[in-house]
Amino acid sequence: MTHARTDTPIEIEDIGTNSSSNEEFSHVLQARMSRRSLLKGGFGLAASSFMGTGLLACADVDTIETPKTLQLNFTAVPKGTADVVAVPSGYSSSVLYRLGDPIAAGVPAYRNDGTDAAASYAQRAGDHHDGMHYFGVSATGTYSLTASDRGLLVMNHEAISPLFLHPTGPTIVNNARTVPDEVLKEMYVHGISVIEVNRAANGAWSYKQDSAFNRRVHTLTDTILSGPAARTLYMITKYSPDGSRTRGTINNCANGYTPWGTYLGCEENYAGYFRRVTATDNANRTPKELTSFARNGIAGNGRELWATVAGSDPDGLYARWNTMKLGASADGSDDYRNVANTYGWNVEVDPFNATSTPKKRTAMGRFAHEGAWLGPIRAGQPLVFYMGDDSRGEYVYKYVTNANWDPADATRGLAAGDKYLDDGKLYVARFNADGTGQWVELRFGQNGITAANPAYAFADQADVLINTRLAADAAGATKMDRPEWGAVHPTNGDVYMTMTNNSSTVRTLASTDAANPRFYNDKRTTGQDQRGNPNGHIIRWAETAGNNAATTFSWDIFLFAARASVTDPNINVSGLTAANDMSSPDGIWFSRSGVLWIQTDDGAYTDVTNCMMLACIPGRVGDGTTKTIVNTDGAATKSVTTKVGAQMTEANLRRFLVGPKDCEITGIAETPDGKTIFVNIQHPGEDTSSANFLAGNHNSNWPGGAGSRPRSATIVITRNDGGEVGASLV
Ligand code: FEO
Ligand code: CA
Ligand code: CA
Repeated sequence: MTHARTDTPIEIEDIGTNSSSNEEFSHVLQARMSRRSLLKGGFGLAASSFMGTGLLACADVDTIETPKTLQLNFTAVPKGTADVVAVPSGYSSSVLYRLGDPIAAGVPAYRNDGTDAAASYAQRAGDHHDGMHYFGVSATGTYSLTASDRGLLVMNHEAISPLFLHPTGPTIVNNARTVPDEVLKEMYVHGISVIEVNRAANGAWSYKQDSAFNRRVHTLTDTILSGPAARTLYMITKYSPDGSRTRGTINNCANGYTPWGTYLGCEENYAGYFRRVTATDNANRTPKELTSFARNGIAGNGRELWATVAGSDPDGLYARWNTMKLGASADGSDDYRNVANTYGWNVEVDPFNATSTPKKRTAMGRFAHEGAWLGPIRAGQPLVFYMGDDSRGEYVYKYVTNANWDPADATRGLAAGDKYLDDGKLYVARFNADGTGQWVELRFGQNGITAANPAYAFADQADVLINTRLAADAAGATKMDRPEWGAVHPTNGDVYMTMTNNSSTVRTLASTDAANPRFYNDKRTTGQDQRGNPNGHIIRWAETAGNNAATTFSWDIFLFAARASVTDPNINVSGLTAANDMSSPDGIWFSRSGVLWIQTDDGAYTDVTNCMMLACIPGRVGDGTTKTIVNTDGAATKSVTTKVGAQMTEANLRRFLVGPKDCEITGIAETPDGKTIFVNIQHPGEDTSSANFLAGNHNSNWPGGAGSRPRSATIVITRNDGGEVGASLV
């Protein structure tokens, strides 16, 4: 992607008239009150972070006598294209958990030549490590908010690099898969891992191969459909004629966690896995079905061609990826015409119970779920999850529980999930030009979501949840530049969300708006044009009165990604330099200390650098100014006035890590003491051509070294002096 530079000094008059100054006071008050109530209540992740790390630079003047400030504690890592993981001097990284690593006793080591038995992957690491969370484990094996030497690392395996999984890559004849075992292996390799990790006395981390906690959830795992869309006619399949279940989970991208110690693996680009040949199938479907398929992108042969396996298939392992109407039944109980409706959800997994059945939480809506990020945990108030729909021109959502948080539910596992995640309100965001915004509820009968809606006649709330995108269209949501990860500031509650990028083919110059205000040409060093917003930005908002369940908010744009070599202040709006320029921010995540980590999934700036991770100490919503960006597209121009956050400098935004070739950096977790972080390196060597692969040349040999096939992997990063990673109070 790209980077930019410009300077936006703070203008006092803009700050003075910005209503967020009132909100700042209430945020401070809220932070103080919530800390006290959490301490009284004796539970809450926020409370643990205050107490566990000692890193609170916050507003509780009663207990902090000498104010200290949080400062980044490392020297910026330069951009680069080497096939290594580069971290700052004074830091170390090591490889923890790679594609194919065994997670049960007796499973042999990964051969890394494509010959491992397909079914063995039910007990091996999956591919394309992505979103991740660390759950501390107490001495008695329960969830601990303070355990920093022993934990469960739970992570997604979003997708696959098929070339590296089989001896000579996938076998495809006449656009069909002819080796069922290859497909079976690929179905196991997707999903979620639960692994026990331990820190030895010498500080070294390893995963415990024979831990009873270890588990893989994959695309064959029996899964319960839960919430308002479960057991409805939309969910009927041959696998589950009553619509109560489906098989497994797919394309789990980013993630979430709950206050009751469970994990959310979020199904993103599920649509591409299904086979639906429109020339044959369209004539057999209702107009509503066709509208739903079109809006969700369900058409084609299926990206991995899984449904093309011929021959005996008594359990429908392959047929279930065919979402065409093939049977004679009226309700779909004899085929998989409805199966795509059973994907595109958030799936809840209890990592502390390896025999529990995962549950898909339909109340949280169905779309290309990037992840689900929990807001502040406050006893007696609703819980809130923020969610992005990762596609260009899609929307930002939040889910608010109807039940108020009761700390007594913290040990109830999936039963607590039933209480909070099956019953709530789903909202979509409208970003107004003046820096305010609204959350519009997606409820059948309200906000244009009715049977009279001209684009799609909604029938009931299950229909609304399954067709969340269509409901959000009707509700007048704001189209965004690819909403991906969200992150909630641990003390002030501000919500950050990446808008990874957009292109001129989806969003034109004319359709720039205040929340998506840039249009430019980011020329590669080869001269190739990249028009639109190829480098992306990060937006953030503060909920009214510090109440994350509020239906109004104020927002600004925290950061515009750009190349440092670009000096046009309409492109490098944030004034990025060689120490912190980036493109396509995707993963963002807050340490308990208040460090915002930014990870990139980039294709635009890769002429200059591999993907990276940066650390940042942000201010807050409203700390910047109003700015007019002058956009050009050839001879055409359009100026857009927007709210921009305070300028970041190298002092508070620095590059921390650069990954190996062709990788994406995604997924991060930390121990409660802040002294260890885990980071996922996804798909190194992904751009290797089939011809090069067959000749033994891979773009990357990370992490195994010369000659080896590359592997997605989790790495561990610590400071050599044993201190906190990223930033320290000084
Ligand atoms: Fe799976 Fe949106 O990245
Ligand atoms: Ca992502
Ligand atoms: Ca991505």
